[in-house]
Amino acid sequence: MTLLNKTILLGVTGSIAAYKAAGLASALTQEGAMVNVIMTRSAGEFVRPLTFQALTQRPVVTDMFALDSQSRVQHITLGQTADLVVIAPASAHTIARLAWGLADDVLSCTVLSTTAPVLVAPAMESHMYANSATQENLGRLRSRGFVIIEPEYGRLASGAVGRGRLAGEGAIMAAIRQALGGVSDLTGRRVVVTAGGTQEPIDPVRYISNRSSGRMGYALAEAARDRGAEVVLISGPAAIAAPGGIKLVPVVTAMEMREAVMDEVPACDALIMAAAVADYRLETPASQKIKTMAPELTLKLVKNPDILGEVSGHARRPKVVVGFAAESQDLLKNAQTKLVARNLDLIVANDITASDSGFGAENNRVVLIGRDQEPSALPLMPKRQVADIIWDAVVGLLRL
Ligand code: CTP
Repeated sequence: MTLLNKTILLGVTGSIAAYKAAGLASALTQEGAMVNVIMTRSAGEFVRPLTFQALTQRPVVTDMFALDSQSRVQHITLGQTADLVVIAPASAHTIARLAWGLADDVLSCTVLSTTAPVLVAPAMESHMYANSATQENLGRLRSRGFVIIEPEYGRLASGAVGRGRLAGEGAIMAAIRQALGGVSDLTGRRVVVTAGGTQEPIDPVRYISNRSSGRMGYALAEAARDRGAEVVLISGPAAIAAPGGIKLVPVVTAMEMREAVMDEVPACDALIMAAAVADYRLETPASQKIKTMAPELTLKLVKNPDILGEVSGHARRPKVVVGFAAESQDLLKNAQTKLVARNLDLIVANDITASDSGFGAENNRVVLIGRDQEPSALPLMPKRQVADIIWDAVVGLLRL
């Protein structure tokens, strides 16, 4: 997707990450886009308009009441001529103002007056990001169709480590390309994605679960949505908010997940089981909280149904069924065995012993194994990018 001749409006707000927006403005300009920058007043505390002016060779707008060369109000013209609006970094304050539709500066007015896609890349201190006020505001924006480019986990300007660091330039550029008419090869398709780990109750307080964060499955759901699919996301409890614009079916146990999958798959084109389904559940969870007087406790576990196996053998099996294989040894051999045993079209194998990928991580390093095909090992990359490559493969299989 070329950015040549695209008009991109870059909103820069008051976050220490404002300096990183200069790199983004430069990269967009170098790719041929016409970049109009709007800075909020607090952004000007961190970086000067001259920086963006020099990089984009365009005037930078900071004043609500400035007129353009034809004496038109800029916040209207800029919004209407933009092919895309990207706000990077987006401070908690700007996110709140956009969520509530305020129009008290040139950036918020422009966002209200544009019909272009709006991308928001939050950057802030981790507690501010995690705060339910910010999360609710982001949820509002998502439900209105804004694309949120999730911040990264890492070292923040405060010295603390947490989530809140502006997404990398690569991730922002990828989201921009996607929003500017990236592929829509799943339009008209209905897909089901499972995500997260299931929880199997021991008693009303305790449960057995696993380390799945839901990130890979959520990235798959988001990518399918962006490619035009109607998406059903069946999710066990997860560490992150579900993407907007999809049907979310929350479940807790493996039995609930199975029921939800069986309800949804007969009418879908593809199923991707990214969930970490607990293999066992308690035969009889205690109805009252178990008292801990006894020196030992024995729990009797029984096997959960194999959801993928059931779907694959179903009379109305979706055309494409994809599984995941989380392995700590013999990655390819074990994954290949699961591919065949469950009659899958594709299996995504990941080595869960690697510290930089897999459970809870932002990135993943996987091997895609199709039937009668050489395994394709992908390098370490953001889960969203992995998701798009998996959908590329699924789209190919749907066309067969
Ligand atoms: N899966 C499933 N139903 C289960 C368990 C797993 O549908 N009861 C799915 C998972 O969503 C995943 C695939 O099966 O797509 C493989 O899961 P994994 O836990 O790696 O494999 P298992 O077959 O459970 O094998 P093991 O735990 O012995 O490695």
